[in-house]
Amino acid sequence: MKPVQIGLLGCGTVGSGLVELVAKNRSIIADRSGLDLQIRRVLVRDPKKERPVAPELLTTDPAQILDAKDIDVVVELIGGLEPARGHILRAIGQRKHVVTANKMLLAASGSELFRRAAEQRVRIGFEASVCGGIPVLRAIGAGLVANRISAIVGIVNATCNFILTKMGEEHWHFARALVEAQRMGIAEADPTLDLDGQDAAQKLQLLAEMAFGVTLEKAKFLVEGIRQIEDEDILTASQLGFVIKHIAVARDLGPSLELRVHPALLGATHPLAHVRAEANSILVRGDAVTEMVISGRGAGALPTASAVLSDVIEIGRDGQAEHGPAWHLPTRGEKPIAADFESKYYLRLPIKDVPGVIGLITTALGKSDISISHLAATLIEGKPGLGNVKIVAHRTKESALRKAIDEISKLPVLSGRPVVLRIFEEN
Ligand SMILES: NC(=O)c1ccc[n+]([C@@H]2O[C@H](COP(=O)([O-])OP(=O)(O)OC[C@H]3O[C@@H](n4cnc5c(N)ncnc54)[C@H](OP(=O)(O)O)[C@@H]3O)[C@@H](O)[C@H]2O)c1
Repeated sequence: MKPVQIGLLGCGTVGSGLVELVAKNRSIIADRSGLDLQIRRVLVRDPKKERPVAPELLTTDPAQILDAKDIDVVVELIGGLEPARGHILRAIGQRKHVVTANKMLLAASGSELFRRAAEQRVRIGFEASVCGGIPVLRAIGAGLVANRISAIVGIVNATCNFILTKMGEEHWHFARALVEAQRMGIAEADPTLDLDGQDAAQKLQLLAEMAFGVTLEKAKFLVEGIRQIEDEDILTASQLGFVIKHIAVARDLGPSLELRVHPALLGATHPLAHVRAEANSILVRGDAVTEMVISGRGAGALPTASAVLSDVIEIGRDGQAEHGPAWHLPTRGEKPIAADFESKYYLRLPIKDVPGVIGLITTALGKSDISISHLAATLIEGKPGLGNVKIVAHRTKESALRKAIDEISKLPVLSGRPVVLRIFEEN
């Protein structure tokens, strides 16, 4: 049996899950891989906290792991940019393989880390950085390696999907669904990165880099979260035959890429429409397989630890640092992000109930050549004189829609900020 000596940086949610999973499945892992996984040392900030680790393994000194001769693989589960980046670079400098779940760091500094790893001929495993327990990076990088990938569409943020599912299926308000997501450990105490779409954007960047072989560290693209969605929108979407999901979209358009993260109305037959609660799902379009969908638990202690260990085991199986290239995001340079895209739209415009309001709104849309397939006006119960105009607009350019919304927002008949949701259709 070949030992694999692991140095663990961080023993919070995922780190504790990893310790638990190694203890629970050590013999099955050994049977399948011929590897004996051994956690040699664990870096934490506060050694007094209760953890599922023998106290003698804990250290607050990173050098005990990063510079130690008896560690083969450093597993970084601290999160954030620093000190995680510095620790990883130091481990690579000592010619240690690294496994990380840190999407934020890889999205910001992946090219630097992978370059250093290639120079040192060590590997960086990062399966857990995108969608926790779902082996989507391995599916794209290995299983679909013979495909030219044209598009990825995913539900990649568990918090957003949980909240939208509860609002849609059980008519919970946003705030109640968020509190429940936090109680269940799906959402962080500070859910900003999830709710505002940044977490999904980091995952989309890594997925697109893997699928299209480009570096996107400097890429700017549309990122919207779900805070603007109200019960009214969920209900109207359902009446129109749609479900609202927070999606991440990447398309290879040839000379440019389309990348965007936002809530969208999906038709009931779309493969992602039935992805519920904290589940994640990613649809990949490849020229040989046509369509592949992979789903599962995108976060949580054990699912994420499962992905981390899959990398540790692959590194252990493949032998010494001298052999084999670094695992890296394959980069053939940069590609620009397309400035515009087309979509159908759902609009909810909060209005004052005064004569002529509909005419003002339709005129503004008409000026941008936007035609309407559905329009309904409703009054808001308990708020006399206030209402909503809900519109489904035919396919148009995002830039044209934005121009029209800017104009509509300035109308004196508006009583609040317009809600703009895209209706997602496969091209
Ligand atoms: N949670 C998930 O479901 C999930 C899913 C996918 C990916 N990830 C990624 O996995 C990584 C870890 O997430 P997590 O949820 O496990 O985080 P977490 O619960 O906050 O745990 C972080 C751990 O790192 C330690 N730590 C933080 N700063 C440190 C420092 N300066 N020096 C030494 N130790 C330090 C903490 O020590 P103390 O315990 O002493 O405070 C804690 O043990 C992140 O990159 C995250 O994005 C998480």
